[in-house]
Amino acid sequence: MSSGEQYNKGGASHASGGTSSSEGKSGRSPRQTKRGFATRAIHACHDKNDPYGALTSPIYMTSTFEFDTAEQGAARFSGEDSGYIYTRLGNPTLNELEQRLANLEGAEACLTVASGMGAITSVFWSFVEPGDEILVDETLYGCTFAYFRHGLSKFGIKVRHVDMRDPENLAREISDKTRIVYFETPANPNMRIIDIRAISAIAHGCGARVVVDNTYSTPYLQNPIGLGADIVVHSATKYLGGHGDLMAGVILSSAEDMEQIRYVGLKDMTGAVLAPMNAFLIARGLKTLELRMERHCDNAEKIAALLEASPEVSKVYFPGLKSFEQYELAKSQMRRFGGMIAFELTGGHDAGLQFLNGLKLCKIAVSLGDAETLIEHPASMTHSPYEPSERARFGITEGLVRISAGLENAVDILADIDQALSS
Ligand SMILES: Cc1ncc(COP(=O)(O)O)c(C=O)c1O
Repeated sequence: MSSGEQYNKGGASHASGGTSSSEGKSGRSPRQTKRGFATRAIHACHDKNDPYGALTSPIYMTSTFEFDTAEQGAARFSGEDSGYIYTRLGNPTLNELEQRLANLEGAEACLTVASGMGAITSVFWSFVEPGDEILVDETLYGCTFAYFRHGLSKFGIKVRHVDMRDPENLAREISDKTRIVYFETPANPNMRIIDIRAISAIAHGCGARVVVDNTYSTPYLQNPIGLGADIVVHSATKYLGGHGDLMAGVILSSAEDMEQIRYVGLKDMTGAVLAPMNAFLIARGLKTLELRMERHCDNAEKIAALLEASPEVSKVYFPGLKSFEQYELAKSQMRRFGGMIAFELTGGHDAGLQFLNGLKLCKIAVSLGDAETLIEHPASMTHSPYEPSERARFGITEGLVRISAGLENAVDILADIDQALSS
């Protein structure tokens, strides 16, 4: 089988979500889905077609693919021949990563793109039309909020915010005009948890698709499709890449929806293609995803406990704390509670900035999921696209500080946070 033949238009080659090309040949596909997460993150869907048997798959740094004949080129365009055409439509390095990610997330199909925003916008441009309505949660990553507020709404798409912590709010607002219900869980930055099962049941009752941004959790901690969601997006810039050295996004869905997302949303609307080199780096990052997530979770639990016990801190938002009001819900849909924490200082906004400036080890930086512990101030940084009144209404307070727990030794992170708090 040539590498070209691995590519199946519309992602149908990913259809089992747990089938590697080699297993497909040996007819043992159901077995691999039962292997452990780390095993699948390392081995699943490895393309064994390299003529030299390279253990690490080669990077196909090519924009286009040569056709043997003009007729073959025409057949690829018409879909009669499923070989590769052009990297914006598919590439073996991307394809292997996509199959592995589909396996890990439990999805039929996957598409990798150039950034998390590229993933989100490619999904929306695939399914919405003027006159449609979309319902989104109140708390979203700032640029996602800006896309809905200033991007989609310019094209006659009505975007309404609903507090989805209570599914009844969605039940009241949804109508047959609603095309997509969108949320993050845990939500950036204030860690709201949304009940994926309950929201999906309500949305499906009205024929709407449910799209979940699973960036904070990764496929290791939470699998929204298994809980009823239709489409999952990730900023792979974060935990999936894991080393703060690339930008990437991931979309997971049914094979049918992916046909539309790949050939409309990505190919014609956003063009947000992932570079093969970045696909290689994500595949490398995936090999340690389970190990890294366990450490991120351990460190976050320790940081949250320290913050909760600190007199300078008035509130901690971390789903793994028993005092967190949505602790039980988080536990019911997540394997562990993740590496993200938010908190408020009793001194409010000014104390928040003072705290950041007092750090000696942890970095003042946006983004998350890196090896380094990253700390930022959402109101003036990631969530500045919100109007101050909206931030107040949606629970993104001016004094909120967001921490992405890194992979350093916990004792050093805790010492740095402790000294910055007391300063
Ligand atoms: C939850 C969430 N979704 C999406 C994005 C956008 O991802 P990217 O920066 O890769 O475009 C981010 C970025 O911070 C994010 O935090």
